[in-house]
Amino acid sequence: MKLGVRSRVTAEDVIDGLTTAVIALDEGLRVSTINSAAEGLFEVSRRLALGAPLAEAVPHFAPHEARLRRALDTSTGFIEREAKLTRNGSAAVTVDLTTTPFVVGRKPGLLMEMLPVERQLRISRDGLFQTQFDASRELIRGLAHEIKNPLGGIRGAAQLLEHEFPDSQHREYTRVIIREVDRLQNLVNRMLGPNRAPQKTLLNIHELLEHVRRLVQAEAPAGVAVLRDYDPSIPELAVDREQIIQAVLNILRNALQAVGTQGTITLRTRTRRQLTIGPTRHKLAVQIDIEDSGPGVPPDMIEKIFYPMVTTRAEGTGLGLPLSQYLVHSHGGLIECRSRPGCTVFSIYLPIETA
Ligand SMILES: Nc1ncnc2c1ncn2[C@@H]1O[C@H](COP(=O)(O)OP(=O)(O)OP(=O)(O)O)[C@@H](O)[C@H]1O
Ligand SMILES: [Mg+2]
Repeated sequence: MKLGVRSRVTAEDVIDGLTTAVIALDEGLRVSTINSAAEGLFEVSRRLALGAPLAEAVPHFAPHEARLRRALDTSTGFIEREAKLTRNGSAAVTVDLTTTPFVVGRKPGLLMEMLPVERQLRISRDGLFQTQFDASRELIRGLAHEIKNPLGGIRGAAQLLEHEFPDSQHREYTRVIIREVDRLQNLVNRMLGPNRAPQKTLLNIHELLEHVRRLVQAEAPAGVAVLRDYDPSIPELAVDREQIIQAVLNILRNALQAVGTQGTITLRTRTRRQLTIGPTRHKLAVQIDIEDSGPGVPPDMIEKIFYPMVTTRAEGTGLGLPLSQYLVHSHGGLIECRSRPGCTVFSIYLPIETA
């Protein structure tokens, strides 16, 4: 098939398709290019921004003008990690900012690339989340043990009663006791979580994801598509296959519940370099995104969803995400979430050990 001129992808299309926010400035610090990601991040319109001075077009940069001017005049770029950009004192947008001088024709310009740093990731990075998460997990496990102990006794007694009174009227009651005890037993087992350390084997992450995708596809209603977008260059990594399947499955099932009968779920893989998780900086990590087109996590819930027993579903137990987070933590990894209506992304980061 011949590609017509109109269907050819231009450099502008590519820049516009990037998830990194990009703004280019001319020699007068006026906006010469701004992509969709930057429009979304700073909530500005391209139509108004193009040609306008940066501080006016994107007020977040007003306090940084002098510094950008210097970078332009001296042709020296800079990188700032976790730069906090605020607009008239409103909530900060935190980004990793890379500024690079360039020359178009004879005129100098400045290219700014901004990668948003997710709040959830920052919380996890400073260790506070980990401490609270460990504490709540201990609490839940302690509680589960206390509940679990008498359950065996209750079940045994109900069975004895059934033998003593074999008539059908009493049997009805003992059946209720046994059924409810079994339900509680299932719940406390989930509350206790896995009781073994990961048994790692070297495997291809895409083979594992395809396995999970097939499982979920079978459960999905006809109007729900489970798509994939894999980076084939990801090397094999050492993980506990069963545990990571469980971790991904919990998130995928939530996505399935979120989209209902109509929507899309995308499984995406990427490599990440120099990623800091907790106290450790990893040279290489894999990022597995599970994205869904559902209504999103309610804003007042987003900080809490990784804690146990937090649920908005009538039949939910609120144990899926904390279990996933625990399993990924025990692989030295981390799960973060960002969500808005129509686009919820859970990202699983797993370090890849390099020799
Ligand atoms: N993809 C998603 N879209 C919207 N909300 C979500 C999504 N994933 C999770 N949530 C929210 O997070 C809550 C907690 O999820 P979690 O998996 O821990 O528990 P649950 O699904 O409610 O119950 P369980 O998984 O134990 O059956 C959910 O009740 C829901 O409110
Ligand atoms: Mg769930």
